[in-house]
Amino acid sequence: MSKPTSLTFTLLPESIRQCSAIGAEVHLPPGMSLLDLDQLNEEDKGIFRRALFENQVVIIRKQKGIDPTVLPRLAKLFDESASDIHSAGDKAVSDPRNILSAYKAGRIPRAPQVGIIGSGKFHDYEGLKELEVVHLVEFAGQNLDHTLFHEKPLEQTEIAEGFTRPYRWHMDTPFYERLPGEVTILHSIRIPNLPDQKIKFPDGSTKAIGAGATAFFSGARAFTLLTPEEQEFALNTTVTYAPQAYEYIRKCKSSEDGLTIPTLGREVHIDKLSEWSWDKVAEHPMAWRSPLNPDRPFFQVHGCCVYKLTTHNPVTGEVTIIDDVEEVRRVVYGMQSKIYAAKNIYAHRWEEGDLVIFHNRGVMHSITGQIAAHKQDEDKKRMLWQCTMTSQNPPKSFRTYEGVNETGYARV
Ligand SMILES: [Fe+2]
Repeated sequence: MSKPTSLTFTLLPESIRQCSAIGAEVHLPPGMSLLDLDQLNEEDKGIFRRALFENQVVIIRKQKGIDPTVLPRLAKLFDESASDIHSAGDKAVSDPRNILSAYKAGRIPRAPQVGIIGSGKFHDYEGLKELEVVHLVEFAGQNLDHTLFHEKPLEQTEIAEGFTRPYRWHMDTPFYERLPGEVTILHSIRIPNLPDQKIKFPDGSTKAIGAGATAFFSGARAFTLLTPEEQEFALNTTVTYAPQAYEYIRKCKSSEDGLTIPTLGREVHIDKLSEWSWDKVAEHPMAWRSPLNPDRPFFQVHGCCVYKLTTHNPVTGEVTIIDDVEEVRRVVYGMQSKIYAAKNIYAHRWEEGDLVIFHNRGVMHSITGQIAAHKQDEDKKRMLWQCTMTSQNPPKSFRTYEGVNETGYARV
């Protein structure tokens, strides 16, 4: 007989979850202060998986001191096929042609699957002599203009009033050569000591969030907000992402909500991208099937990186293609932007030591927070560990029908 189950979880309070359908706290078995995977029995692991796949984001508090090598092992609890390769590649992105290089993320030498992100300069950390990480949000009037990602940045007065915005809603994956991991794990080492900030929504409401909060919305919730016609369209559609997607949008900026890109002709022409081939270009269903959630389709689309939509009519077999990028963005944005309201967004308020596991294939997430301006202040620096490992299994389509491509990459 196995030991009595002792890992438990509780949903975050309704006042925080609101309509997001996101958020639970995992409580480790009594006597276990730092997560010790070897001490969890099969029931514990099953409860842990259920907590994550039902609630999309789970938090274990007070994990300061956890060994970085635990994070990749933990990721495999949710995806046995997770490879030991960070989804951004085996080295941090340093190619200046790639928009992701601006984060200047480092890697922990003893756990190369774990990246270091945040804001500020650090010395002699985890065997790294000098490390500088950059927090990319609005930085109006400062000398980091290249990090601006919004077409219309916040005004200096709005920043002074404490406003911030989601930087770019995304899943952790390059959409090229590697498949998205099932989960991403974040662990907070340093939290900036700054007052709350706030996000303004199109309906006029405002949401107060912790400075540097990580914001999430659920793909399952997004699906439920679609009209029946849009749901049918989503269930029958495959999304092809842009070749070398982040290089393709390198010169582009996003809408104020961080969900899409206004098409202004600044995309890098596909003939001018670094070497690429279609068989490495990500192609995923618009509505994903999630483990432990057989009845809920997840609308999982990265609105900034989309390139082409292919829709199969399951009755007639007819195929419709939208390959005008502006139109593709318009269609996706029309569907996805319905979720952009205060009550649908969970913004994780970081506490030092938090271990946050999120279902990368079940949510979209975004950085928020105006904290880069304070990077010189010792108590306003920020450091997080981030573990996101490419999966070997492509995302599954919620509806399977003939013609759906299940490789995770574009057909050649
Ligand atoms: Fe991310």
